[in-house]
Amino acid sequence: MTMSAKRLELLLLVAAVCGAAAGHKLLLVSFDGFRWDYDQDVDTPNLDRLVRDGVKAKYITPPMLTMTSPSHFTTITGRWVEDHEVVHNMMYDAKTNLKVAHKLTLTRSEWWDNGVLPLWITAQNQGRKTASFHFPGGGANYSGQAVDRVLVEPLDHPDDNETEWRQNIDTVMSWFTEEDFDLVTLYYGEPDNVGHAKGPDHPDRKEIVRQIDRTIGYLREAIDRHQLNDSLNVIITSDHGMTTVKKRPQVEEIILNKYLNLLKLASFEILDYGGFGILTPRPGKEQEVFDALSKAPNLTVYRKDQIPESFHLGKSERLPPIVVVADLGFNLNSRFIVYVNKGDHGYHNGEMDMKTIFRAFGPDFRRNFLSEPFDSVHIYPLMCQLLRIEPAPHNGSLTVTEKMLLHSGGSQVSAPGSVTLLLLIMFNVL
Ligand SMILES: *[C@@H]1O[C@H](CO)[C@@H](O)[C@H](O)[C@H]1NC(C)=O
Ligand SMILES: *[C@@H]1O[C@H](CO)[C@@H](O)[C@H](O)[C@H]1NC(C)=O
Ligand SMILES: *[C@@H]1O[C@H](CO)[C@@H](O)[C@H](O)[C@H]1NC(C)=O
Ligand SMILES: *[C@@H]1O[C@H](CO)[C@@H](O)[C@H](O)[C@H]1NC(C)=O
Ligand SMILES: *[C@@H]1O[C@H](CO)[C@@H](O)[C@H](O)[C@H]1NC(C)=O
Ligand SMILES: [Zn+2]
Repeated sequence: MTMSAKRLELLLLVAAVCGAAAGHKLLLVSFDGFRWDYDQDVDTPNLDRLVRDGVKAKYITPPMLTMTSPSHFTTITGRWVEDHEVVHNMMYDAKTNLKVAHKLTLTRSEWWDNGVLPLWITAQNQGRKTASFHFPGGGANYSGQAVDRVLVEPLDHPDDNETEWRQNIDTVMSWFTEEDFDLVTLYYGEPDNVGHAKGPDHPDRKEIVRQIDRTIGYLREAIDRHQLNDSLNVIITSDHGMTTVKKRPQVEEIILNKYLNLLKLASFEILDYGGFGILTPRPGKEQEVFDALSKAPNLTVYRKDQIPESFHLGKSERLPPIVVVADLGFNLNSRFIVYVNKGDHGYHNGEMDMKTIFRAFGPDFRRNFLSEPFDSVHIYPLMCQLLRIEPAPHNGSLTVTEKMLLHSGGSQVSAPGSVTLLLLIMFNVL
């Protein structure tokens, strides 16, 4: 073997080692509103196979504020809601009474960009290439930086088209193989949509879970077809669960205006939005509003400055002074029962119906590993570890999730170190 051939071989070896040290690729998939136990009353062969081939958590707990945007943003930032300040699905301004519907917020950077950098941007700043496919928060700019590749969910996007779901997987696979993306986040609006419209116990919810299961089967085939088995880690999770909305005559539905004159006492409110409500009392009416709501049944009212610390909501500047959390299954109707949903969320994250799923597989994950439940805030440091990037400040902890990893001993700092050592040894040989 000539010297130059030997050198070339060496270079290739070094490149391979550096590649490994740089981490594998990562796909984060979210199926909105996938309650932790949705796979237990439906035949889900692909999800079952994942249990054997990877990691399953018994369930995970979303942050307080079990809503799509707040919870997804905790997953992708590793920060509590009071820190990242995406405190509702709707964008609002209590001073001007501005309210913007969820889907229209997806490209409104001023709602998302509050000084906390999501994983896409932190990874990009460390040389990784990232993309967001319909993932909440992916369509905003952070400190002037956009995610490298973004598809924002169009307003009229159907939630449940299985053919399109598969096409989206094909697109994501081509991003990994043809364009060398390192991180892609992929979002699906189901089973949330069916859960709201029909309720979690409806046969259609079981049908959409079967569809999701087929899609996971398709994803695994696609990974194999693209020869990504050994280089792509996948995390499948969700933002919250779903519960059946309690209606008359089973219960007396809540109509808040019966307990306080909303027009007279509040200058701003977002009610009629499932189990979570917010209110700004008119000046001088704080106590009156609080007292009136304290007497209302089937809900808990909190003054912002007295919100339990475990909610991690109290420090938020955006949340108005009064926060209302309904008891499980009750809706916070303001004046009339306008609410048509049969299922909903937004309730206390301690309720089992609000818990959601976590599955993972790929080259860095153990097989057949059942994890104890954990808070979704801990997914962020796990993702940073998988990508071998330095995390931004966050509220998670890698110790919660590293047991899932095959080489949990190999910490972030030691990886570049071992490459250096290997290089030294090899140059010695030369
Ligand atoms: C993000 O920044 C780019 C470049 O400045 C701009 O073209 C784009 O409109 C911005 N997007 C959003 C959602 O603010
Ligand atoms: C589903 O998506 C496919 C592929 O995008 C499209 O051709 C088809 O028309 C869609 N079906 C419905 C019912 O919208
Ligand atoms: C890739 O993983 C799939 C399981 O999803 C398996 O069926 C297939 O044989 C694997 N392919 C290779 C090349 O190891
Ligand atoms: C709702 O509140 C009423 C009045 O306090 C109470 O009797 C009832 O048990 C509550 N319903 C539920 C389902 O908790
Ligand atoms: C969450 O993390 C941020 C950033 O490190 C920190 O400022 C904040 O105090 C943390 N919150 C809690 C409750 O520890
Ligand atoms: Zn929802």
